[in-house]
Amino acid sequence: MRAVDIIVKKRDGGELTTAEIDTLIEGYTHNRVSEEQMAAWAMAVLLRGMNERETADLTLAMARSGAQLDLHDVAPVTVDKHSTGGIGDKTSLLLAPIVAAVGLPVAKMSGRALGFSGGTIDKLESIAGFQAEMSSADFRSAVRDIGLVIAAQSIDLAPADKRLYALRDLTGTVESIPLIAASVMSKKLAAGADCIVLDVKCGRGAFMQTLDEARLLAQTMVSIGHHAGRRVSAVISTMEQPLGRAVGNALEVREAIEALHGHGPADLVDLCLTLGAELTVLSGKVAERTQGRDLLYETLDSGLAWNLFCRFITNQGGDQRMLDDASALPCAPVVLPVPAPHAGVVIAIDGMVLGRTVNALGGGRLHKGDAIDPAVGLTVETKIGDYVESGKPLVFIHAASVQDAEREKVAIQSAFTIGDQAVVPSPLVHEIIA
Ligand code: URA
Repeated sequence: MRAVDIIVKKRDGGELTTAEIDTLIEGYTHNRVSEEQMAAWAMAVLLRGMNERETADLTLAMARSGAQLDLHDVAPVTVDKHSTGGIGDKTSLLLAPIVAAVGLPVAKMSGRALGFSGGTIDKLESIAGFQAEMSSADFRSAVRDIGLVIAAQSIDLAPADKRLYALRDLTGTVESIPLIAASVMSKKLAAGADCIVLDVKCGRGAFMQTLDEARLLAQTMVSIGHHAGRRVSAVISTMEQPLGRAVGNALEVREAIEALHGHGPADLVDLCLTLGAELTVLSGKVAERTQGRDLLYETLDSGLAWNLFCRFITNQGGDQRMLDDASALPCAPVVLPVPAPHAGVVIAIDGMVLGRTVNALGGGRLHKGDAIDPAVGLTVETKIGDYVESGKPLVFIHAASVQDAEREKVAIQSAFTIGDQAVVPSPLVHEIIA
């Protein structure tokens, strides 16, 4: 079977067989299919689409292209969560210890930030000493002994996806729902969790900007999970404004620590309970979502989730003193308010602009391997529906210098639309696809 025939078949709108998809991905992994051929094929998929079965076959073929973790020798059931990425999204920092503290081991491989949205590993690395790079033996021991591990994706999971994703980035073929779904799910399946909850963000600060797109992506990923014999559910949550108030690595860790002490922003806590409740049902821990929510809330309220977070951080080398005294976390030397240009109600917030601002302050990276400043970021003082007086702060900029902060002020003001009618923010959760 020649790669060119598979490309032509998809180009002409044909349905690829399992064997054709396996041949292509296997050939690409072993350099028998060239980058040019894969680029042409990705464009054909973008234009012609793939059905559910083809998408599931692609996912499984990419998951098989590298290591596949099996954690059943250290925990009978493990759970994982994936977010499609958003501004101020620190849900993993809060969700993982709450879920682990109810007895569901969390085994999570996470990425570093690239582009406008942050990465969990960068956030955790703002805690001095935290080690995200770990061997597969240490990863397993942490699942067994602590019940919670979050590691950088150092093990070679789904290498075919890694190459294909980089190629799609260069060839205008990222925006294909089957390709995105297969890319995300191949890594999740290879990481070995039995139950997976997907947080599909929808809105201005997200990859999927409309509910229709988010729904299609969510349905596609849930269906892939079922084809692969995993228990998967997707929550479509709003990203019309930042989640919580903090955007930026150490600022987000501080907000998660506050939440673990019972003082978190309502939207962040609510979303974590919703996502966590899915995992309690998927794993069979409880029969109903409401029971799962209550159980998770009690675990948060009792301090058990906080204790587990401390054990997880110190097990991975993190400095307990930064947990006991969050003011010891990296702090930016300059904190500057961005005033509202006039009085009114906040009607819209462009999260993408805020995300880019954090990058420009040094809190994100444009290229793989760039260094980041964990201290910089934003704290959002006004959210959609709030009334703000002229001159009162919309946001505080946390920057390395006054010049850096001054440079971003205008962009931040432009991210806020202030009007004179009352607005009701979208619901935090649009839909759950189980
Ligand atoms: N994230 C991924 O991992 N893959 C995609 O294709 C898009 C977002």
